[in-house]
Amino acid sequence: MIFEVRVFYHQSGSKSREWPGRASNTDVIFEGMKKVSLTGIKPTGTPHLGNYLGAIRPALELAQTYQPFYFIADYHALTLTAMHNAPALRESIYQVAATWLALGLNPEEACFYKQSDIPEIFELNWILSCFTPKGFMNRAHSYKDKVAKNVADGLDSDENINMGLFGYPCLMDADILMFKSHVIPVGKDQKQHIEFARDVAHRFNNHYGKDLFVIPEPMIREETDVIPGLDGRKMSKSYGNTIEIFLEPKALKKKIGSIVTNSQGVEEPKDPDTCNVFKLFKLFATADQSADLAARYRAGGLGWGHAKAELHGVLESTFSEARARYNVLMADTALIDKILAYGAAKARPVAKTLIEEIRETIGIP
Ligand code: TRP
Repeated sequence: MIFEVRVFYHQSGSKSREWPGRASNTDVIFEGMKKVSLTGIKPTGTPHLGNYLGAIRPALELAQTYQPFYFIADYHALTLTAMHNAPALRESIYQVAATWLALGLNPEEACFYKQSDIPEIFELNWILSCFTPKGFMNRAHSYKDKVAKNVADGLDSDENINMGLFGYPCLMDADILMFKSHVIPVGKDQKQHIEFARDVAHRFNNHYGKDLFVIPEPMIREETDVIPGLDGRKMSKSYGNTIEIFLEPKALKKKIGSIVTNSQGVEEPKDPDTCNVFKLFKLFATADQSADLAARYRAGGLGWGHAKAELHGVLESTFSEARARYNVLMADTALIDKILAYGAAKARPVAKTLIEEIRETIGIP
């Protein structure tokens, strides 16, 4: 694989444009490009099935219809004190990058970069933070949940909350608005963040009377809304109930073995719809496979061990080829560095052009 830096958009062309209504210099850059879909993933651990279904798969599917921008939100990870650990952060960045690439991200077609490689994002973060009412941040779910947890635990309400965490949504606005993103495939928990981005984009555009920012739309997948973890709660690193995407077969078997089931015996008929094993199976199987397994649950004679073996089978057939690619990439992090640098070289001129126009607009010569 050779990843040479190639400018993928053209800088001249006709005046016809679909959007935005009021002229902005970056229209020229974006002309001829499909509408942008953008998504970010925080490197805070090894990617798991919840990340795959909720973020990675839907985002990769959008590459058919949109110009995709995918990035590793590495500076977002720093809002968590647990990630104030250089080897852990570095490892997670590589794992996230290798995961997306192994699962089919095409770095030639997409812009795939690290957030930290685009300094303009951080400049825009500052500018947007000056256009964001503090009250909005007070009401951000992500922040409020942390405060509520501190209070419930009898701690000071600000315990472990740094300014980065408080201002997290502003940085996310900058991630999104920097590239004139139209659609943002995210989980439901991120909906409010997209609303903030829409609000600040409107506020800014209206204030200066120029459509510098595109108003982004969230794209939320309801069917993969809640992906059950090992204990049946939402799969989340913070609950410690995740199944990592690229576990080797043996480790995967062990993980699946720890999925919580009830104490029904082998012969008893079982309800697939209340079973965590079946819920996960269904997310990866075809409709026929799901109907077949559901019938076997209801008929009796299917033990939890059998059901778990079915889940193992469907996960293996979904991920074993990608796992081989993942392992190759993880053994060659220099290649990952090269791919990400290539992505940053494509994305950065877009960011530079917009930030220059913003500076001019706001009166910073
Ligand atoms: N906040 C997102 C998450 O926790 C990650 C993220 C950062 C993001 N910036 C983004 C997602 C921009 C979409 C668009 O999952």
